Amino acid sequence: MKILAIESSCDETAAAVVEDGRRILSNVVSTQFEIHAQWGGVVPELASRRHLEAVGPVVEEALMTANTDVNSLDAIAVTYGPGLVGSLLVGLEYAKALAWAHHKPLIPVHHIAGHIHAPFLAFDDIPLPTIALVVSGGHTSLFLMKELGVYQLLSRTRDDAAGEAYDKVAKLLGLGYPGGPIVDKLAATGRDDAVFFKMAKMSDGKPDFSFSGLKTAVLHHVRKHNLPPCVSPDAISDEVRDLLASFQRAVVTALLHRLKDAVERHRPLSVILTGGVAANSRLRRDAQTLMSSMAIPLFVPPVNLTTDNAAMIGAAGEVSFRLGVVAGSNLEAAPFAAIGV
Ligand code: KG4
Ligand code: ZN
Repeated sequence: MKILAIESSCDETAAAVVEDGRRILSNVVSTQFEIHAQWGGVVPELASRRHLEAVGPVVEEALMTANTDVNSLDAIAVTYGPGLVGSLLVGLEYAKALAWAHHKPLIPVHHIAGHIHAPFLAFDDIPLPTIALVVSGGHTSLFLMKELGVYQLLSRTRDDAAGEAYDKVAKLLGLGYPGGPIVDKLAATGRDDAVFFKMAKMSDGKPDFSFSGLKTAVLHHVRKHNLPPCVSPDAISDEVRDLLASFQRAVVTALLHRLKDAVERHRPLSVILTGGVAANSRLRRDAQTLMSSMAIPLFVPPVNLTTDNAAMIGAAGEVSFRLGVVAGSNLEAAPFAAIGV
């Protein structure tokens, strides 16, 4: 089965052709980093305008690279939510029009389901039940998936997502957008025990995440120590490197603490680490150490599949399609779409 998938929920316009939910025939991503970098974060109006310009050429390129055309497709999958409404609408309306004009089924895909299915494109055999730690700029959640396409939400963030915390800390220190990759790189050169950050605890005892307190603690540290914003990535002080290393340690510790609890409780046969922050070198390394110590296989997709892309939407779309999930032309963008039972 050949599926064209379209993703435009945030600041990447992406299209891919995926065969049988596993084989990537093409995976085209047009990023908008340079547009948003000067503002220190995604500007929704600019994002949707750029999606409008990019969606046609990106879809064309995905079809061409896959050596196929719309008529040869079995279905069209599209992200319907969550995300920025103006961004979502561009991909969604394009997919709807294409499906309608060529009489193809339209498969609605939840963005997080896409992230959860990314590793299935890279590994042949991921044993179920699995626990997926989804860490991105918009989400930080743990899911238990006992059967393909059925997601049980175990934990979520109460406030900021982990990637959002990286981006905000980077902005605070003048390190640019997106913050994750640069903080990751600089943190590797600092002492991670230089600054102590307390781990957030939920007053109701739920196993949720919270990162806004950590972000505020970094802000207080910056003010207290009068750390000036960085002017050049080549001139970063040891103090800032230590702060970033300590921040990164706090984020990774919090993520893996919840993951460990969930694995001990639900005893899955595998663990998935996915989403943009899964590109983080320390998180990848520490997650591997933890899972090896628990004798559970860990599946982390390559970096180009952890950050937003459309191949993951195609993989999740195939699963939904097999479960009979098809949308009509009345499918609407759902900026706050929920997932999981
Ligand atoms: O999954 P994604 O591409 O988009 C969303 O669905 O949000 O994730 C983007 C997020 C950004 O916050 C970015 O700073 C973060 O992933 N990120 C990283 C790294 N690479 C990207 N965070 C930490 N370390 C990285 N190496
Ligand atoms: Zn994402």
